[in-house]
Amino acid sequence: MSTSPDSQCVRVGVIGGGLMGKEAASAFGRWFALLDVPVRAELVAVADLSEPALDWFRQVPTVRHLSTDYHQILADPDVDVIYCAIPHHLHEKVYCDILDAGKDLLAEKPFGIDLASARRIVDKIAATGRFVRCSSEFPFLPGAQRVIAEASSGRLGRIIEIVSAFHHSSDLNPDKPINWKRQVKYCGEIGVMGDLGMHVAHIPLRLGWKPRRVFAQLSQIWSQRPDGHGGMADCDTWDNALIHGELDLGDQTGIPMRWETKRLSPGATNTWFVEVLGTEGGVRYSTAEPKTLWTFRRNGNTQTWTREDLGFGTPYKTITGGIFEVGFPDVLQQMWAAFLCERADALEGRFGCATPEEALASHQVFDAALRSHKEGRAVEVN
Ligand SMILES: NC(=O)c1ccc[n+]([C@@H]2O[C@H](COP(=O)([O-])OP(=O)(O)OC[C@H]3O[C@@H](n4cnc5c(N)ncnc54)[C@H](O)[C@@H]3O)[C@@H](O)[C@H]2O)c1
Repeated sequence: MSTSPDSQCVRVGVIGGGLMGKEAASAFGRWFALLDVPVRAELVAVADLSEPALDWFRQVPTVRHLSTDYHQILADPDVDVIYCAIPHHLHEKVYCDILDAGKDLLAEKPFGIDLASARRIVDKIAATGRFVRCSSEFPFLPGAQRVIAEASSGRLGRIIEIVSAFHHSSDLNPDKPINWKRQVKYCGEIGVMGDLGMHVAHIPLRLGWKPRRVFAQLSQIWSQRPDGHGGMADCDTWDNALIHGELDLGDQTGIPMRWETKRLSPGATNTWFVEVLGTEGGVRYSTAEPKTLWTFRRNGNTQTWTREDLGFGTPYKTITGGIFEVGFPDVLQQMWAAFLCERADALEGRFGCATPEEALASHQVFDAALRSHKEGRAVEVN
């Protein structure tokens, strides 16, 4: 492999230049905003089947290789790392090709279309020894970091319950045309859990909170949508999923932990929410109020929820003033900084991206949710 003129610069190739491929380009385009990241990154190559998608990347000055064939990007010796953001039915084949080509990978969730596929990807990572992580950006929000710190602090007492949720609402409109995310053959049988599930699984799994048993309620609310050509198409994925889990922690067994993923949640645009309640303390954060952190304390009979205004307290410092608000593009860039620092063995105790093992564990929970719904009973997570 040839070396970059700047040995600290990681050369990134994107496979899939759609919604998320463009977001990655935006994160690299303002890398100079990061103050304390020892690794530089540049987007140098993009592969997409669609010429219009590739055309968008012509305006990115660092991009020097565009192709409709991703194999061309994989054969490029001047690409170190691949970000792959393509439909779920292609994950296994393309991720394995990336690893066989000797590239490191930031993979998109759900990390394979189903549990079996995720297992084969994890086996391939072990066989090739490449550095791989799974995309999940919300834990890099300052509010989410505070939730993690509170939950790990030992200040919460005995845990009463945990909720981790991600709610969308654009699918409420039955006139919204079908796309690949609403069809089992592209999105997977897990449906909305594949789309939104890694986002609700990442923090609980990182805290060691994998449910032992789950009972799931899966709903399909619209079964057809306009096909965009004057007809109707089957919309056969689950729209909403409520996974009621049981968690064992120390001497506490059966702690309720609910993972919610909803495409039809009235009024919610992209609301990611986490709440952990204990007998002595609690913590609650939602992107619906992105600046606000709620913490709970009990002192004898006095119970107090405290509201705190958060600033720009991201894991990696940036040029942005500490009083300003954080948004989606910011946390995406933070996730990329964590990925590249961990790859360079320079994470220095900061929060790391979701691991392949965590992605696999999320699939184990979603697979159990499918079984639970089918059988109408609580099932063990394998
Ligand atoms: N992390 C997040 O917040 C987040 C948000 C949305 C989507 N995603 C994930 O990102 C992935 C992509 O989702 P999206 O919303 O960007 O989808 P998208 O439909 O906007 O983009 C997918 C792109 O992949 C391209 N493509 C399809 N087959 C290809 C192939 N063989 N070679 C090269 N390009 C190909 C398509 O032409 C399209 O441009 C999915 O895994 C999805 O779950 C993650």
